[in-house]
Amino acid sequence: MRYIRHIFICTNRRKEDDPKGSCAQKGSEEIRDIFKKELHARGLKTKVRANKSGCLDVCEHGPNVVIYPEGVWYSHVTMDDVTEIIEKHIIGGKVVERLLFGDPRYRPEQMEYPPLKDQEIKPAVG
Ligand code: FES
Repeated sequence: MRYIRHIFICTNRRKEDDPKGSCAQKGSEEIRDIFKKELHARGLKTKVRANKSGCLDVCEHGPNVVIYPEGVWYSHVTMDDVTEIIEKHIIGGKVVERLLFGDPRYRPEQMEYPPLKDQEIKPAVG
């Protein structure tokens, strides 16, 4: 595994007059920048990657963030939520329940995962 966790932040942007709206119109590009800066500042950029994603098809709930491999969906994420997601979920392995996407189909199967310190990246083979 190259990265232990991937954070996908929807940065899709639609035209201002599009009734669907978009995550970028609600600040997701700045949110992604904060994720990157915080991961870098904490020395985590080799273990955790914050990636832009295209539309996740739940636009009305944006900004939306999905974390893999857990498949945890967060919605209505703000810049103020980034530190909590990194400290509680990424480092601590505990889902930030107050930010979970409301639709039960998107609920994670479990609320706790191995903390980051307990996981190692396997060296490349070949
Ligand atoms: S624009 Fe972000 S989920 Fe559609």
